[in-house]
Amino acid sequence: MAATGTYAQVYAGWKRDPEGFWMQAAKAIDWAVPPSRALNAGHAPLYEWFTDARVNTCWNAVDRHVEAGRGDQVAIIHDSPMTQTVRKITYGELRDRVALLAGALRAKGVKKGDRVIIYMPMVPEALEAMLACARLGAIHSVVFGGFAANELAVRIDDCRPRAIIAASCGLEPGRVVHYKPLIDAAINQAGHKPDFCVIFQREQEVAQLTAGRDVDWHSFQFGVAPADCVPVEGNHPAYILYTSGTTGAPKGVVRHTAGHLVALNWTMSAIYRCEPGDVFWAASDVGWVVGHSYICYGPLIAGCTTIVFEGKPVGTPDAGTFWRVIQDHGVKSFFTAPTALRAIKREDPDGRLLEDYDLSGLTALYLAGERADPATVDWAGRHLKVPVVDHWWQTETGFAIAANPLGIEVLPFKSGSPSVAMPGFDVQVLDEGGHPVPPGTLGAIAVKLPLPPGTLPTLWQAEDRFRKSYLDHFPGHYETGDAGYVDADGYLYIMARTDDVINVAGHRLSTGAMEEVLASHPDVAECAVIGVADDLKGQMPLGFLCLNKGCTRPAADVAKDCVKLVRDKIGPVAAFKTACVVDRLPKTRSGKILRGTMVKIADGQSYKMPATIDDPAILTEIAAALRGLGYPPA
Ligand code: COA
Ligand code: AMP
Repeated sequence: MAATGTYAQVYAGWKRDPEGFWMQAAKAIDWAVPPSRALNAGHAPLYEWFTDARVNTCWNAVDRHVEAGRGDQVAIIHDSPMTQTVRKITYGELRDRVALLAGALRAKGVKKGDRVIIYMPMVPEALEAMLACARLGAIHSVVFGGFAANELAVRIDDCRPRAIIAASCGLEPGRVVHYKPLIDAAINQAGHKPDFCVIFQREQEVAQLTAGRDVDWHSFQFGVAPADCVPVEGNHPAYILYTSGTTGAPKGVVRHTAGHLVALNWTMSAIYRCEPGDVFWAASDVGWVVGHSYICYGPLIAGCTTIVFEGKPVGTPDAGTFWRVIQDHGVKSFFTAPTALRAIKREDPDGRLLEDYDLSGLTALYLAGERADPATVDWAGRHLKVPVVDHWWQTETGFAIAANPLGIEVLPFKSGSPSVAMPGFDVQVLDEGGHPVPPGTLGAIAVKLPLPPGTLPTLWQAEDRFRKSYLDHFPGHYETGDAGYVDADGYLYIMARTDDVINVAGHRLSTGAMEEVLASHPDVAECAVIGVADDLKGQMPLGFLCLNKGCTRPAADVAKDCVKLVRDKIGPVAAFKTACVVDRLPKTRSGKILRGTMVKIADGQSYKMPATIDDPAILTEIAAALRGLGYPPA
């Protein structure tokens, strides 16, 4: 049950007594040893929650529902338009499957604290692998299937896994993603070598196993004893999830076990209005934070049925797929990214396909991952006839910082705003000097420390980077990296990132990482990558290259190489399709590339000539290059 009272009362109640608020929420979790207190401020400004508790995530997400007599309830529905199959797994079956998989991992030496990388497409086995790790207290790190081998290698070297669990392939429209060669290349490249790999063979492609290292998902479970849940300390890492930062090295966001359980469980009723037995669907991917929190853990911890969807919003087979899934499985709350709706709207602007389906069970649509443009929100509300909740969060926070908490109170909606701060988050809009700005004034968005349970306590083996990235700029606050403002009613408006992160089709990418790849090309002397506005994907990366003096290769060839290089090094998910060669990049007198001004020119926005610009004529050259690429669009 969500806390009782209006939103204002619940939020004020949290502010008055944050520890009491979270201790109350903690009552909904099954503890091996309950916490004696909520907050551990012993190492401020690094904070932990429920440190002295003992608890197991898998127990709370699976076993306890079976113990409570709901073993026959469906836990996971796998709906795959890619393979044209639907498969259902009950909580009882899930418990048995996960216990056996955990037993097999344990038999191969995986124990509490070991890291396990999971590299899998949208199949239930991905969730089972996550839960099996949780059962043993092993720390999983799921890597999104759209990343290239190099990105996988970077993660292997950073978290040093004992094992990798993977599928033989993923399925994208029109192509099979061969996972095994990617894994082999990554392990080859990485300095750290995992002890073994477990390969889940899909019938669409059977991978050749590497003798002595790879084991088959089914045969390695044969004859092993199932494993029981291992209670772990409240501050034991449940998982590491890498996300893009300013540089090419991804940040390993750590999630502690107890806070994760308490916070996600709280959100399922307070924000998503879901109770045990309800069907919840997040159309994301297990490789992203939305997949962790709301395909796997949140719905299962709350005893809901979750949907693992292997398909796209359009083309699998058409723009009615989402509505078919909602109808067929009786989805109550649905979560997707605005870009997915834009793709549907583009194919079916009048919502004709919606008329073919009975969506009467749907009570709300939730959007996150990028700014929800008002036109898309309006379109969805008009056609679905349910509240459309834009909510704002990040990999780092693991759940919504701001939302319209329908399970507490349906607040008035405001166009362009993800509504109000959730309990746990004291959101401040600050100027460069760290002073709060008045309502309506743009500033950097920060959250007063401590952050609530379930948010990142640190980065994996990189405490200094954690402090530098998030805590040092505004002492006493967590710096979100987003800029925006609050209105007089306390509604937040998230306008842009303050760093080099861009958001492409709801995927968080680093332009800095792309620049590192471009700079590695032997003909490239200098480069810049910017994110330009895109009608479908929100933003698209665009690269500018300055070539070395004396380079004799045609500019178009180098640009083509560079597009391929980013795909090979970062992966198709980077969606890096355009690079152009220019003579010079616009810079300040101190040598800083004026990326922000370039974005404004590309997007057709007015801009002030930066006072510190070295040579204003270069902006004219950039504008001409952009016009050649079709920017700004007519
Ligand atoms: N494994 C391998 N490759 C993947 C992949 C995966 N899991 N996911 C995406 N890719 C590939 C795509 O096949 C595409 O490759 P291509 O360049 O060969 O065409 C590339 O990465 C870019 O993918 P994407 O940006 O998703 O574009 P798209 O054109 O395939 O699809 C949308 C466009 C809008 C339909 C799609 O982006 C979408 O559904 N977005 C929603 C994203 C989402 O839910 N994000 C979750 C955040 S909450
Ligand atoms: P990720 O860590 O991939 O979830 O990306 C987090 C970033 O996506 C945030 O810092 C924002 O820049 C952006 N984002 C997520 N949700 C929203 C939203 N509802 N409105 C605006 N931006 C959002």
